Order: sequence, then C-alpha cells, then structure tokens
Amino acid sequence: MARLCIALDLDKGQALRLADKLLGFPVILKVGPKLFLEGGRDLIENLKEKGFEVFLDMKFHDIPNTVALTVESASRMGVDYLTLHTLGGPEMLEMAVSKKGSTKLLGVTLLTSHGEEFLDFIRSEYKSLKDFVLSLAQTASRAGLDGVVCSGHEVKEIKEKTDLLTVVPGIRLRDRKDDQKRTMTPKEAVKNGADILVMGREIYLSSQPEEVVRRVLEQIEKL
Ligand code: C5P
Repeated sequence: MARLCIALDLDKGQALRLADKLLGFPVILKVGPKLFLEGGRDLIENLKEKGFEVFLDMKFHDIPNTVALTVESASRMGVDYLTLHTLGGPEMLEMAVSKKGSTKLLGVTLLTSHGEEFLDFIRSEYKSLKDFVLSLAQTASRAGLDGVVCSGHEVKEIKEKTDLLTVVPGIRLRDRKDDQKRTMTPKEAVKNGADILVMGREIYLSSQPEEVVRRVLEQIEKL
C-alpha cells in the first residue's frame, strides 16, 4: 500500500507541534535543510522517539567521497530515507550506496518545479523531460539506489522500466499549484504507481492537518 510522507517545511517549534498532532498516524516525516539546520540530530531523534519514520531530504550533490561520508553519517543517525541528486552521476551514486547501511537512498531525478524550459537551459538533447527523468532513474537503478523522487507524470514509466521505489511530490488535493509545475492528486499518483506521496503545504497550512491526513490516507487505502 502507498505511504504518505509529510514535508515539514516549517521552523522547529511548528514542526514539533505538527508531529504531536499527527501522533499515531502511519506517516513518514520529511525534514529538509532549513529544519535540519535548526534542529539537527536532536530533532531527528525526537521525531523517531515519537514513532515516526524520518526522511532527511538534503538532496546531496558533491564529489563521490564527500557524499559517501555524509550518507554514512546520516545512516548512523538512524535516518530512514535520504535523498541525493542523480545528476551527481554513477560514481557518486555507487559510492553513496556502499555507505548507506539500512537507510533507503532516494535519487532526485528532476525537481518538480522545473518545466520543459529546463532542457533548453542545460542545452540538453533529450526530447522531453520524461525521457531525461527516465534516463536518470535508470542510472539510479543501475547504481543500486532504493528509489527515486519523481513527478506523478513519470511514475508509470519508471515502474515499467525499473524496480525502484517511487516517491512523488507535487501532490495537490484541489487546483492549487504554488510553485509546482507538474502536480497530481493522491489518487492519480497512486494509480500511476507512486509508492510514497509527499505533501507539504496542503497539510501544514491547513487549520486541521489531522483531517487532511485522515482524508488522504482513506483515499489511498481504498485503491
Ligand atoms: O508544499 P509542497 O507539497 O509543494 O511540498 C513538496 C515537498 O517536496 C517540498 O519539501 C519539496 O522540497 C519536495 N520536493 C519537490 N520536488 C522534488 C523533490 C522534493 O517538491 N523533485
């Protein structure tokens, strides 16, 4: 069954208050760079003690040795999911895999805030974003990563061509896009094969985040 991951793009106090409201829900909590810089290791341990799985979304991209050392450190901290950019290339990805321990390593393919114009920006010869993303996912799979982060529009093909776990941000319940260019509803994403749905603002900006979480879980449980 698909899982729900909540992006805690908040300050430390707000993140902990939201976590307390969500106690008992089988959700994964995603900590990004801002929150990690504020809360560090203590925050990760605190969220784990509350019973949540923790996704540390730092999207690492550096020389292979630096990334491998960083992955090892996150794994020792007990982080359940960790991201790095597939654009870092096969050598970086393979070295990271060698140090991941029991942490699940997820490759970011292309940020969902990018549209087709990004291909022109990097002067890519790929005909579409989808082709580019698919090629990055295949690189991740060959390097031994556990999964990839991708938009709901690419999930189907990634699932057909690899056995990677698919983590899908850009999920929206209604017609609200914010800065995301490629959005999808929870139902659509799961039908396409998404394993983990990532939702941030829809949940943490709601006056009743527990209700939104309950609704999304109900929707995806029925599929
Ligand atoms: O608020 P919203 O639901 O748009 O949050 C999406 C979350 O997923 C953010 O934390 C963002 O950093 C993350 N993300 C993304 N696109 C990616 C990878 C991660 O939006 N390709």
